[in-house]
Amino acid sequence: MRFSTSPGDILDDKVSTPRGLAIKVFDVAGERLPGSEGATTQDFLLVNGKAFATPNAKAFLANVKLLAATTDKAEGLKKVLSAVLGGAETIIEAAGGQSATLKSLGGHPKTHVLGESFFSMAPIRFGDYVAKLGVRPIAPALTALTDKPVHLDDKPNGLREAVSAFFAGQGGEWEVVVQLRTSADTMPIEDAHKPWPEDESPYLPVARLVVGPQASWDEARSPRINDASACSPWHGIAAHQPLGSIMRVRKAVYEASQAFRLTRTGCPLHEPAAVADLG
Ligand code: HEM
Repeated sequence: MRFSTSPGDILDDKVSTPRGLAIKVFDVAGERLPGSEGATTQDFLLVNGKAFATPNAKAFLANVKLLAATTDKAEGLKKVLSAVLGGAETIIEAAGGQSATLKSLGGHPKTHVLGESFFSMAPIRFGDYVAKLGVRPIAPALTALTDKPVHLDDKPNGLREAVSAFFAGQGGEWEVVVQLRTSADTMPIEDAHKPWPEDESPYLPVARLVVGPQASWDEARSPRINDASACSPWHGIAAHQPLGSIMRVRKAVYEASQAFRLTRTGCPLHEPAAVADLG
C-alpha cells in the first residue's frame, strides 16, 4: 500500500490536496491487460473521493492545463493559496457541500491520511460485472483518525511522519468494498463525475487488508523503492479492466509518466514478483 497526495510536484504537505492510495496485489493469476503481460501483480489506484473531478478526458484536459502550468513553480504561493482555499472548502462543507476543484488546488482539509476512505472513482470490470472499488478503514485506531486534523505547520513531510508514527506502534485493518453497477441509467460508465447512487447499490465488503506494525518509511530504502516501482490502473488482469474515457486515457499517460521518471531518476522500473523484491 502506498499513500500519496495528488500533484506531480513535490510540495510541502501544508499544500493540502486529495489523498491517494495505490495497492499492489501479488500472485494474481489470469489473462493480463495489454501492456502488463508477463507480470503477476494487480494494481488498484484509489483517491479519497467517490467521483472524479470531471466527467471525461476532454473536460479533464482543461483542468490539468491549469495544474501543469503551475507544476514545480511557486510553492510559496501555493501554500498561501492552500490556506485560502482550505478556508473556502471549510465554509462549503459547513453548508453541506464539497468542491473537488478547490480540494485539488490545495483546499483539502488538513486531515490525517490514515482516517480516509479511498475509491476508484471510475469503474472497472469485476469479472462478469462492472463495479467501483473502495477501501475503508475498520480498525478503531484508524477510524478514530477520520477527519482528525493533523499538524502540518513547519512539517513539509507531516503526512508521512504521521503515518510512520502510527505504524511504529500498531498495525491497521481496512475493508475492500465494491459497488456493483445495477442500472445503466443511474450508473454511467462514461461519466466519472457522477457518483453512483448508494441507495440503489451500496458498497459491499469483499475482502480485508491487514497490515502489522512496521517502519512505513525508511530513509535508506524507501526513496529507491519509490523510484524503482510504479502503479497503474492498466497494470493487472483483464477481469479488472478499467472502463470509461477517464480510465482509457490513463493507459498512455501512466506509461509516459513512468518513462519520464526514468529520465530524471536514472532508475529503471523493476516490477516486483514478490513482496521480498521490494526490500
Ligand atoms: C479515477 C481517477 C484517478 C485515480 C483514482 C487516480 C489515482 C492515482 C494514484 C493513487 C496515483 C499514485 C500511484 C502510486 O502511488 O504509484 C496516481 C498517479 C498518477 N496519476 Fe492518477 N488517478 C486518476 C486519474 C488520473 C488521470 C485522468 C490522469 C491523467 C490523465 C492521471 C495521471 C497520473 C499520473 C501521471 C500519475 C503518476 C504515475 C507514475 O509516474 O507512476 N491520473 N493516480
